[in-house]
Order: sequence, then structure tokens, then C-alpha cells
Amino acid sequence: MQYGYFDDTMREYVIERVDIPVSWTNYIGVRDMCAVLNHTAGGYLFYKSPQYHRITRFRPNGVPLDRPGHYVYLRDDESADFWSLSWQPTAKPLKHYSCRHGLSYSTYLCDYGGIQASQTHFIPLDDPIYLIDVTLENTSDEMRSLGLFGYAEFSYHHIDFDNQNFQMSNYCSGSSYEGGIIEYDLFYEPDGYQWAAACFEPDSFDCLRDRFIGVYNTESNPVALQNGECSNSFEKTGNHCAALHKQIYLLPGEKKRFVFMIGEGRREDAQDLRTKYSNPEARDTARAELAAYWQNKLNALQIATPHAGMNTMLNTWTLYQGEINVMFSRFASFIELGGRTGLGYRDTAQDAMCVPHSNPGKCLSRIKELLQGLTSRGWGLHLFEPEWFLPPTEKKTPAKSPTVVPVPDTSDMIREDLRDTCSDDALWLIATICEYIKETGEFSLLDEQIGYADGGEGSVYEHMTKILDFSAEQVGATGVCKGLRADWNDCLNLGGGESAMVSFLHAWALDYFVELCRYLGKTEDEAKYLEMLEGVRATCERELWDGKWYIRGITKNGMKIGTQESDEGKVHMESNTWAVISGVAERSRGLSCMDAINAYLYTPWGLMLNAPSFTVPNDDIGYMTRVYPGVKENGAIFSHPNPWAWVAEAKLGRGSRAMKFYDALLPYHQNNKIEVRQSEPYMYCQFVMGRDHTAHGRARHPWMTGTGGWAYFAATHYMLGLRPDYDKFVIDPCLPGDWGGFTAVRRWRGATYNIEVRNPSGVEKGVRRITVNGSEVKAVPVCLEGSVNKVVVEMGNH
Ligand code: NOJ
Repeated sequence: MQYGYFDDTMREYVIERVDIPVSWTNYIGVRDMCAVLNHTAGGYLFYKSPQYHRITRFRPNGVPLDRPGHYVYLRDDESADFWSLSWQPTAKPLKHYSCRHGLSYSTYLCDYGGIQASQTHFIPLDDPIYLIDVTLENTSDEMRSLGLFGYAEFSYHHIDFDNQNFQMSNYCSGSSYEGGIIEYDLFYEPDGYQWAAACFEPDSFDCLRDRFIGVYNTESNPVALQNGECSNSFEKTGNHCAALHKQIYLLPGEKKRFVFMIGEGRREDAQDLRTKYSNPEARDTARAELAAYWQNKLNALQIATPHAGMNTMLNTWTLYQGEINVMFSRFASFIELGGRTGLGYRDTAQDAMCVPHSNPGKCLSRIKELLQGLTSRGWGLHLFEPEWFLPPTEKKTPAKSPTVVPVPDTSDMIREDLRDTCSDDALWLIATICEYIKETGEFSLLDEQIGYADGGEGSVYEHMTKILDFSAEQVGATGVCKGLRADWNDCLNLGGGESAMVSFLHAWALDYFVELCRYLGKTEDEAKYLEMLEGVRATCERELWDGKWYIRGITKNGMKIGTQESDEGKVHMESNTWAVISGVAERSRGLSCMDAINAYLYTPWGLMLNAPSFTVPNDDIGYMTRVYPGVKENGAIFSHPNPWAWVAEAKLGRGSRAMKFYDALLPYHQNNKIEVRQSEPYMYCQFVMGRDHTAHGRARHPWMTGTGGWAYFAATHYMLGLRPDYDKFVIDPCLPGDWGGFTAVRRWRGATYNIEVRNPSGVEKGVRRITVNGSEVKAVPVCLEGSVNKVVVEMGNH
């Protein structure tokens, strides 16, 4: 069953059926202000923090599933019939409904009662203002008298204030109306104000939610719409909203444009912005600037391959997903409600690794934030607020409350006993730093001095050595890295038991570092860390190989997880993919363990994380044994590690196998299977129910997953083989043999590379010849800034 389609020209996903089983969301805004909005304009808006600076309210996990939102209603004053332009909340039988989710905007189109309407929700790049740009056209042959209403419900700013302890929040929020502008405030805090307005002088308004909605009514049938006007309410205390109403007239065929706005700040801050954005030209300019902002990012790499789905996803949606994760961390969605903020160490490091070409500034700031969250012992704080490490003067003061809420001391976060330490967290950062330098050439980063979370400071380079040394020290009985609180898998809780994945990850990070040392001529460190790498390799090959594949780990009681003898959790993705990616597995073992993944974990919906699922709780292994079979970390198609298998297969040179795995997970291919998938086909989800669950194929938790970044990285760097290096650009594709080639345009260090890959003899891997601007070269060099270069790569055997 299909609910929409990809419009590649507009880079939009077009939803044409509104009765989707779950919300299909989009992210509006790219800097400080952001809204998470679904296909019926349900959702919420925040400024900087979805935890303590929420602007509009959302009732999550509710019935219906997407209330409230940012709504525009129309009312026919002759018939008193009213409807909403995004179908919800009135749910009238629209003659036409569609929703176009685009890059940081969503447009809703609706045709009802002889009025064609469109509304685009967006936030200009540089102004903290949420705009709903509305166009109405009278397609009937009569003059129409209509009531136009905009409505949004304000939040008590802090997610906790909105959900508990109303004895304070209910009485500390107030609203007022003056000169067409609603002002909302909480506690009179300097940061506690928002405003709302429209391009017109309203005929009526409501600042009090319950006066607009009415007792026992809902957003579906607000009393204000029933009456045809608002009640001009405002008050200190209560629940507040921004409801603005205007009586409008449309002649037959006449078209008019309006705008509703919600802004950050006080009424006096609103005046200039209101004037500016009341002008439709300013809105058009802001839309064009937003489009240019995204185009500039996308221009860093555009591909044309024989695979339509890969083109659509990599050229737009997968990068979009990766970028949004880096911008807003992974904590604001309809599932992650914004109550947990800050940076997850491993998540942020991996997300940042995938965008140095499209968002070098954010990638760098994330790297620095993570380096500040590293302890001098070399482990990272699993979840932290970067502002803990800012000088006191620069710290924000997140929503104070007269009710005492104990605030933990930052030093409490750094526990000597490693009780909250994850064994993988900081290892990811090594690759992120190296990839950033490969992209930008900014080696000077390595010498920058950065503080440690527990005091003192050191260069970025020193931070990297501490990370590698920590993993070398934290080994268990066999010499394999300890699992500690968890490794990448939150639900594998081995403590002093050992994690195969982390040892492989350690090897991967060491490999990056040794390469860096070699490039920098740091021979002592190169030798030291090469020796460490060889030691890890030997330990892994000795302790973790099980005859056909690699085990996942060893519990603190010495039980091996993921062996040929295991009845449950027999084969695992993490250890086997990383054995290959890290370069530890010798070739025959690499082929064999990836064959095991194909045999045991492949489904047409993607690769399961492990199989068969656990059914017997075992706390020596961890929570994964307590999650229902086929769900999340226990035998679901956990999406994030799927791209690791594409990298592993590409490293082994099996392009068709890599593509088989890529195709299975690709949401694009599931566009017409929504009755099973349910979630949006333009986004990877955190997981898809595995074979051991009755809802096999159902996808859950869209957007906020490392899958976006990793899918992008794996497909572009290893399948298409387009990889920046310190002093050259590597092109080393691994493709299905029936691909004749592909083209790509890549921006790198200020130059443009028009790349054509030819595959005349149908190989899966191997490059026979490279020319740059007609001259044969061994590798693509760094070309002059501003230059446009033609690169032809011929695949084949030497
Ligand atoms: C989601 C978490 O955000 C991520 O850190 C973790 O790696 C995966 N779950 C797997 O457990």
C-alpha cells in the first residue's frame, strides 16, 4: 500500500493519503528554532532546547496521535462549516489533501468547499520566527465570506513543567494582547517570552486555550470556530494559546496570501519582524535563502547511478537525516520527546563523522564538545551538556523553578569506578577527527589545547592517545576489551565481561591513528600504536574466532556469547562486521563471517542484529535478553549496524552482496509496503521488527538514529568508494558487476571534481586507470581551489 511518492525535482516527499498508521514527520528550522511537525501539522516548536525552551505544547503518545499542532482553520460564514487546512484537527472530507515534506519546510495543500488552500510552515535562516505562509483561492463562482483562524498552544517551556507540578506552572504563565500581537510569558524570566501575530489586524483573538477550545470541546471543534469568532481572552495564569482570527472576503477566482507568526522574545521584539514578514516578498526571499542553504550542502556530493533509489536517498534524504541528527542531537522527535538533551557521546561522534563535507563547522564544534567531555583517563561522559564546560558567565540558566529541584554537581558525573562508562564511546571520535581532517586538510586542529572533563588540558592529539590507551588498559581475562556499562549495544551489559566489538573498534581506531602518525612523520608514536594494534589483532584472532564466525563476547563468568553451540543469540552483526571493517579478520575468516551474516541474519527488510532472539533473561549478558524477541536490540533489524555490513562487504570486494544488503534496508524500496512498514519511506528508522516478531517488517523510530549518517558514509565512501584522504582523493568503488558505472560531482577543499566511473568489464572492485583532466595519475590530487576537474576512473583488473 502506497501513501505518497518522492518528487526528486522538488526534493520533496509528497503524502497523498492522510490515513497513515503513524505520524510521518519533518524538521522545520536549521539553527536555533526548530519544529518537529507531522503530515497533519501536529507537533511542537522549541528554541535551542527541546527540554527547557519549548514554545508550543505537544501531548505525546496520545489519542489521537498528533495533538496539538500549528493549525490554520477556515470557516464559511454563510454555512458555519469549518475545516482545517492540514486535515487534522477537524478531519473534514477534503476534496484534495496533500502534504509535501521538503528540506526544512512542509507544505499542506487542501481543497474544500470551493476554496483551494496551501500553507507552508518554515523558519527563516536568521530570524527566530516560525511562519505559516497561507494562500487561499476562491475556486467557486460566488463571493465568499470566510473566517481565517490561526491556532497554536503554548507550552510551559520546560518539559517537566508541562507534565508535572502544575501547582506552580499553571499560575506563573500569562498572556496579553496589544496592537495585534499576543505576548506570552512564564515567570517574567528574560528568556520566558514569546509572541504571536499575523500580517493583519485581527478581528478577534484568544490567548486562553480553554476559551478558544471550550469546555469538553477539542481542537476538532473549537467553540471559537463554532461561534465564528474568538472571545478576546487573556489573563495572568492558566493555559495559553495564540489564536488570531480575521474575517476575509474572496471574489470568484481571487487569490490572497496571509501569514501567521510565532516569535521568540517580547512584544517589542516582534514589531520589526512582523513588519518584515508581513511582506510576501520577504517570505519568498527567506524561502529562497533556505533552499540555497540546503543546496549548498547537497552540492558537496551529487551522484547519478543506475539505482534510482540510491540517487534519491543519497542526493537528498539520507544526508538530510544525517544533518538533522547533527544539528539537533538525537533528542527531539515524537518518540524522543526532548526531555533528554545534551550530547550522547557515541551517537554524536558517529553522526558528526558523516557530515564534514556538508557541515564542516558543525562537525568541528561537535568534535570539540566531545573532546571537552573526555576525561583525562580517556573515556567519554556518556551523556553530557556541553555547557557544563563553559565559563560560568556563558552558561544558560535553564528554567528556574521556585520548587526546589536538586541539581547534580558536574563532578558527580565523573565516577572513578567507571559504573556509567561505556566501552565504545570515545573510540568513535578517533575516526571522526581523522575524517574531518581528511575532508578539510585542517591539521592544525591536532595542536589545539582543549580541557578535560575532570580538569587539566591537553592537545587534541593527546586526547586521541588517551582514548586509545584507555581501551588498551580496560581489558578482561583474555585480553579482549571489557564491555563495561555497555558497548555500542545499550542492552549488552557485560561489566567486567569482554566485548568483541570493542576490541575490533579499538583496532579500527588504532588503524586510523597509525595512518595519521605515519602521515605526520611521528615515527615513535607510529611504532608504539602499531605494536598496540598488532597486539589487539592477535588477541582477537586468538580469542574470538569460533570456526565459522566471530563470537560477540564473553560474560564475566566466562560464557561465550554467539558461538556455533549457542541456541539463542548465535550470530551477531556487531562483532562480525567490525572484524572485517577493522581489518583484523584475515580474508578467509572475513568471507566466512560475512557469509554467516547472510545466512543467519538476512531478511528482505534488512539484516537482523542477532539471531535467534533471546527468550531467556540472562543478566550476565544484559537487557537484550529481556527485550521481546524480534524487537530492538533482541533480534530486530536494527538499522544502524546494517551499513557496517555494506562496508565490510565492500572491503571484501563483494559489490553485489553489499548492494543486496543495501537494498533490503532501503526505505525507498518499502514505499509501497506501508501496510507493513508503517513509518515514513524517506527516513531510516532505528529498527524494523525482526523475524521473531509477529509484526516482522514494521519500522519504528524514524529520523533520530545513527543509521542516516552511517548509511550515507558507507554508501558514499565504500560502495561508491568516494573517500577523501589526507593528501589525495581516493576513488575505489565496489559495485554490482552489472553496473556500467556512475557519475558524481564532489566538492573537496574548494575544488570541484566531475567524476565519471566506468566499468567496461563488469568487475565488482578494482581500478585500472585514473585520469584527471586527461592526464593519467596514480591518485586524484588536491586541485586548486575554485578549479573544476574532470576525473575518469576505469574499473577493471590490472
Ligand atoms: C540507541 C542509542 O542512542 C545508541 O547509542 C545505541 O548505540 C543504540 N541504541 C543501540 O543500542
